[in-house]
Amino acid sequence: MPQIFDRSSNALARMSLILSGLLIIAMGLTLDALQRSPWVTRQGQRADQPVPFSHKHHVEGLGLQCQYCHTTVEESSYAGIPPTKTCMNCHSQIWTDAQILDPVRHSWATGESITWTRVHDLPDFVFFNHEIHVNKGIGCATCHGRVDEMPIMYKQNSLQMEWCLNCHRDPEKNLRPTSEIYNMVWTGASELHPVWCAAQTVSAGTPTAESVTCTEKNPDLSGGVQMASLTSPLPGLHAQSVGTALDSENTAPMQLPAGLHYAEFTSQKALGNFLAKHYDIRNPRELTSCEVCHR
Ligand code: HEC
Ligand code: HEC
Ligand code: HEC
Ligand code: HEC
Ligand code: HEC
Repeated sequence: MPQIFDRSSNALARMSLILSGLLIIAMGLTLDALQRSPWVTRQGQRADQPVPFSHKHHVEGLGLQCQYCHTTVEESSYAGIPPTKTCMNCHSQIWTDAQILDPVRHSWATGESITWTRVHDLPDFVFFNHEIHVNKGIGCATCHGRVDEMPIMYKQNSLQMEWCLNCHRDPEKNLRPTSEIYNMVWTGASELHPVWCAAQTVSAGTPTAESVTCTEKNPDLSGGVQMASLTSPLPGLHAQSVGTALDSENTAPMQLPAGLHYAEFTSQKALGNFLAKHYDIRNPRELTSCEVCHR
């Protein structure tokens, strides 16, 4: 049999095989990088909105709380976008001639809702629920960033599967007392910034998360009764105003439930472990199983 390929063409063939292999890998890496790039995830991009609504002005400037507009965030899977009526509570009197508010007045006059562009939008095949996250100690800022500093809303995080899993594999690092959910500047527990928490027995039917009371002032030193507290009156987490929760001067003194044993936490790991136990958080294996998010 005559040789069909000589030595050099054999080398050439091998070389081109290797080259096309490399090319395929490179393309794969590029596509992967592209899929994660802000260009695809739209992370950080300001959406075009019919009205340039500023969270910075309304939250940081006017001190409005998230729940004033996103009324269902604690009870439902959706946080909800406020109806025009909510805007008109103020804008029937303030800035009544401003052109910038034309779409708001038009909506109010015609009854057609304002068509906001969605900034966060998971694919339909993903199950997500606000209620469980906020009632188990994940703050708005952990997922949405410093909304109080956003003149125009943008997406702080990619919302890709890997981002969700990153927390589900180790939720403790992000857990905070439910009284701090709306706090935009919460930094967790540390040596410099200890947090004291106590668990109490609650009547059956009360969500577990509400059975934990936390405070920033050493309960032993302050006599344990009348003191500024991090927590809103139990049960519930409605009383905090954004950004001021850590500033005890702004928080009215309130009665802490009597007869509780407070433990001091000087690291986020320790606080997270305590909260995970009392909030009854599932273990990472269960929390990362496909059925949790794909049902
Ligand atoms: C005065 C009413 C008001 C208050 C108070 C308010 N929001 Fe909003 N929020 C809106 C409106 C209107 C939109 C839709 C327009 C936009 O995206 O800016 C919105 C949009 C959002 C979105 C993006 C929704 C999407 O399309 O994905 C997030 C996240 C959000 N708000 C979080 C917060 C948080 C966190 C707070 C408290 C720190 C807060 N908001 C306080 C009115 C409000
Ligand atoms: C609690 C009262 C209140 C509510 C509720 C409210 N606003 Fe405002 N809004 C104000 C005030 C006060 C200003 C002027 C802020 C300034 O000059 O710093 C303002 C300013 C604005 C401006 C001008 C740009 C800016 O941010 O300064 C826009 C646009 C606006 N609001 C849209 C809305 C929309 C849309 C809603 C409903 C989702 C809404 N507002 C709800 C009080 C309110
Ligand atoms: C665990 C992460 C996480 C936390 C905590 C969280 N959000 Fe969201 N938020 C999301 C995701 C993901 C979406 C997109 C949901 C979708 O597309 O179905 C979203 C969407 C929204 C929207 C758009 C409307 C809607 O319901 O889809 C608003 C408004 C909002 N969040 C406000 C808030 C507020 C206010 C808080 C704090 C009380 C908060 N979020 C806490 C992840 C979170
Ligand atoms: C910062 C932490 C964090 C992030 C980010 C996060 N989660 Fe969660 N998630 C939690 C915690 C904590 C729970 C409560 C677990 C429990 O109770 O066992 C939870 C529970 C859930 C549940 C269970 C709901 C139920 O009723 O059983 C779903 C679904 C879920 N998350 C989806 C998502 C999706 C989708 C994303 C990303 C878009 C996401 N989560 C991002 C912390 C997070
Ligand atoms: C904590 C929530 C969560 C869990 C658990 C989870 N996923 Fe996902 N998954 C997501 C989200 C969010 C997306 C959408 C990502 C996007 O929009 O880019 C997604 C997207 C996907 C996609 C579409 C392709 C892609 O990457 O966008 C596939 C396939 C998928 N998941 C498979 C799985 C499998 C298999 C498991 C179990 C091993 C799993 N997921 C567990 C949240 C989750």
